[in-house]
Amino acid sequence: MQFIDIHGHYAWNIDDGIPSKDDAYHALSIAKSNNIQAIVATPHIVPGSHNLEDIKTIQLRINELKELASEFQIQVYEGCELFLNHDCIQSIHDNLFIPLENTHYLLVEFDVRKELGDEHEVEDYLYEIEMKGYIPIIAHVERYFKDEIDLDRIRDFIDSGYIIQVNSSSLLGIHGKTVKNNAYRLLNEGLVHVIASDTHRCEGKRIPNLQLTFDTLSKDYSYQTLKTLMFDNPESLLNNKEVVNIEAKKSFFRKLLKRR
Ligand SMILES: [Fe+2]
Repeated sequence: MQFIDIHGHYAWNIDDGIPSKDDAYHALSIAKSNNIQAIVATPHIVPGSHNLEDIKTIQLRINELKELASEFQIQVYEGCELFLNHDCIQSIHDNLFIPLENTHYLLVEFDVRKELGDEHEVEDYLYEIEMKGYIPIIAHVERYFKDEIDLDRIRDFIDSGYIIQVNSSSLLGIHGKTVKNNAYRLLNEGLVHVIASDTHRCEGKRIPNLQLTFDTLSKDYSYQTLKTLMFDNPESLLNNKEVVNIEAKKSFFRKLLKRR
């Protein structure tokens, strides 16, 4: 199966992601061998720290990445990962972000070092994006909960029309046991729309490892579920279309209850 990776820091030397053009080349070759046919370059944009000039610099680098990736027949789309902090409302108002290329989708993140925080604050930021005419894709939701994930809160996000993205690295256990459990709970409850790599490096653990993720998940999830999460929904986002929800996993106990 081919994959589309909508979250990755492949554009080099502009954030904490890939540091050099050589490393970007190497990361693209890994993406190719992982059957990734398209990627969205999503450099971090930090409200209060990035101005219009910075955004232009980021876009130029993404264009350079597009050229580099053509050697691998990998399609590159522009985007960003907008950090939702106290300054973000002004940044959203001033258009200091890069939506997923030619669509009304915008990848956003919260501070992974903290709990998701006050309900109104977070929801206000997301609502502000909606008012601006964009649909938030919430990056790696599994990483914002230090204990058990609040599934009802995620359901509320989905009810609001937001897109839920989970990292392949979380599913592979790279961010620890709690984050891994959170990611699988989301999958099992059918509360994920997209799996993406959030690539930061060309070696180590935060690499474009979608084939390994697919192979690992194939033992417990259907081909169609994984295709929805790793190809169909990402493709729909790139085409500015709606995503579909996956079905909640039927556990042995649930099946037993149903039979009664
Ligand atoms: Fe990221």
